[in-house]
Amino acid sequence: MSSAISRGFDHCVAIYPETIAPEDFRVAWVRDFLTRVEGPRVLDLGCGKGRFLPYLGEGGRRAFGCDFSEAFLAAARVRGGGRLLRSDGQALGIRSGAFDALLGVEVIEHMPDLAAGLREAVRVLKPGGRLLLVDKNALAVADKLRNRLYERFSPALRSMARVTPDWGPFRERWMLPWKVTAALKGLCREVSVRYAGPRWLSTFVAWEALK
Ligand SMILES: C[S@@+](CC[C@H](N)C(=O)[O-])C[C@H]1O[C@@H](n2cnc3c(N)ncnc32)[C@H](O)[C@@H]1O
Repeated sequence: MSSAISRGFDHCVAIYPETIAPEDFRVAWVRDFLTRVEGPRVLDLGCGKGRFLPYLGEGGRRAFGCDFSEAFLAAARVRGGGRLLRSDGQALGIRSGAFDALLGVEVIEHMPDLAAGLREAVRVLKPGGRLLLVDKNALAVADKLRNRLYERFSPALRSMARVTPDWGPFRERWMLPWKVTAALKGLCREVSVRYAGPRWLSTFVAWEALK
């Protein structure tokens, strides 16, 4: 299934942004997270076009990006900003404890085997390493309602629904925050959750964990 999903990403690479503005709240979350990271090696899991890599490389850190889509990696290569590798987040093929920190923005939502993805993310962290996952919040009622309306009444606006369109075998899954928290608690020492506003309205939710 993973290769079918990655081929889907290869085909829709054009619709994804290449950069993210320094003032975006997700960049603020990432920079705040990095203040607690000890050690230089940071992996961006599902790095896409590498829009977070320049931020991960700030302060002399070594940024690595990994993605299972060759088309996304090609775009990331053009932009530079980190060492890139092709790998599936559900079976990374990277040695255990290789990284001091791991970032994953809007990537676990695309994993059919979420438990394997979380296990792998934590496995490649050293003991005392930190993880930050930023993903879509299933509690965001306004988003959910808008998505339903777009999908039902306006196929032309479907892409506005902010869920992966119908090109692949697996549509993105918005996260019930407590489910990811519980899974991470089984793998890590400390887990905290944050939202970009009231939890029922925030499109994004972030989990930070200490291994
Ligand atoms: C919505 S994009 C986000 C990209 C990047 N994190 C960003 O915020 O710009 C999702 C990315 O995750 C990658 N991806 C999805 N599932 C993956 C998996 N199982 N292993 C590795 N990469 C994956 C896709 O190829 C795509 O580049």
